[in-house]
Amino acid sequence: MGKTIIISNRLPVQLQISNGGITAIPSVGGLATGMKSVHSGGDSLWIGWSGLTNEEIPEELEDEIDDALSKHGSSKVSLTEEEVEGFYFGFSNRTIWPLFHYFLEYSEFELDSWNTYKTVNKKFADAILEKADEDDTIWVHDYQLMLVPQMIREKRPNIAIGFFLHIPFPSYEIFRTLPWRKEVLEGLLGSDLIGFHIYDYERHFLSSVRRLLGLEVSFNDIYKGNRIIKVDSFPMGIDYKKFSEAAKKHGERSPEQHSELQQRLNKHKTSDPDAKFLLSIDRLDYSKGIAKRLYAFEYFLNKYPQYKEKVRLIILAVPSRSNVPQYQLLKREIDELVGRINGEFSTVSWTPIWYFYRSMPFENLIDLYTSSDIAWLTPLRDGMNLVAKEYIATRTDKTGVLILSEMAGSANEMNEALLINPNNFEQIADTIYEAINMPKEEQQHRNEQLQQRLRRYNVEKWAQSFMNSLLAQKERDAAHVSK
Ligand code: ADP
Ligand code: G6P
Repeated sequence: MGKTIIISNRLPVQLQISNGGITAIPSVGGLATGMKSVHSGGDSLWIGWSGLTNEEIPEELEDEIDDALSKHGSSKVSLTEEEVEGFYFGFSNRTIWPLFHYFLEYSEFELDSWNTYKTVNKKFADAILEKADEDDTIWVHDYQLMLVPQMIREKRPNIAIGFFLHIPFPSYEIFRTLPWRKEVLEGLLGSDLIGFHIYDYERHFLSSVRRLLGLEVSFNDIYKGNRIIKVDSFPMGIDYKKFSEAAKKHGERSPEQHSELQQRLNKHKTSDPDAKFLLSIDRLDYSKGIAKRLYAFEYFLNKYPQYKEKVRLIILAVPSRSNVPQYQLLKREIDELVGRINGEFSTVSWTPIWYFYRSMPFENLIDLYTSSDIAWLTPLRDGMNLVAKEYIATRTDKTGVLILSEMAGSANEMNEALLINPNNFEQIADTIYEAINMPKEEQQHRNEQLQQRLRRYNVEKWAQSFMNSLLAQKERDAAHVSK
């Protein structure tokens, strides 16, 4: 068996130029953090975009860039500024992302962006074709590269190709509004196996294939010419050990070894033992429901005023896609809301919201997860949401309460969490109250079950089961073709 080629727009690291040299910083987002753990353990090559445009790269740094990436088992696809604009900021994040997350009114349908998306997908496909041997397995990731499977299939009819979508696949009624809906489906159907996080996304996809392409679909098999394409759901897990061990080590540190952030958190905890931290961590994205969460928090403070000066909401929002206007508007809205709520409720000794707009090192993420009594995640729509799983994995003494939107893919597997509808402020306020007052034994009982499941279905298992299914499908398809 040959090597595995992972292909996604984001690589495990993003490159930046600083002081005339190259720095590699870890990429954020579920795809990169999840696949990083899979990639580091195996014989794989990861192809993707470095995060720098051709125009930004001085010629003398070309070799340094290739070296920096090869340290991470990666190889780059070069993109011009114009390509990044049309492909990444344009079609991927102004058309597909909002559409697939049911923000139809944000979705722009522009022919130029679509054309650039096609050109760039071809670049990615060519980069794979250049590196791939016949016995290799190709694993294509996410909505930025939906045309790649068919582009490879045309040149290599027998190579094994898997595709995994990390975001929701919307219902047919939404998907059908896309002018290039058939081309996107045809692109995906170059794969042998197409994976989704949950059964609902799989069902929506099969329904679109049947209704838009008129193909025969039987159970989760699609019949196309003489090929069979399998569609299935594989809920993505986390690197459980990494998070639980980091939390354990964190607990063993003496106060002097604590980070500055941790010391600040400790100070507030010790000054009032009844104080509670509510935590939310997301990329700054409208799909995450951050603005609604702030309104809901205000609603909670008004409904349960006894928690003023007791409860503090920590919001870590990671900058994301800041060239897209909707993200800029959202940033402004959140800045204003945080300012208004803090202005209205703060006292001399208490600020209700701590808002961080930045990426943080892993160590600080662990500080936040382990110090927070409640994790509160309110996506309006989310393919999976790994933050919910990471929080649970860091709770070494099994205390802590997870409040999770039922619109996140992860809610399907996390029934022991307190599930909420992110639009229902009344329910949210009561749920925060319930979380604050949940007996320790109940917290531990719920988390014990969640942890067992997350430990068992970790990211490695997820990747293995996708790969096993892909190889089995390849054999099945070969037998079918030779009939
Ligand atoms: P999405 O993929 O939409 O961004 P997920 O919740 O599935 O949402 O994944 C987010 C990932 O990014 C998690 O693995 C989380 O640990 C990581 N992450 C989030 N915030 C930060 C941050 N500030 N610094 C580093 N990693 C982060
Ligand atoms: C989500 C998407 C990924 C993407 C990540 C970060 O997890 O599914 O494909 O990489 O968000 O977004 P960005 O646009 O920075 O790559």
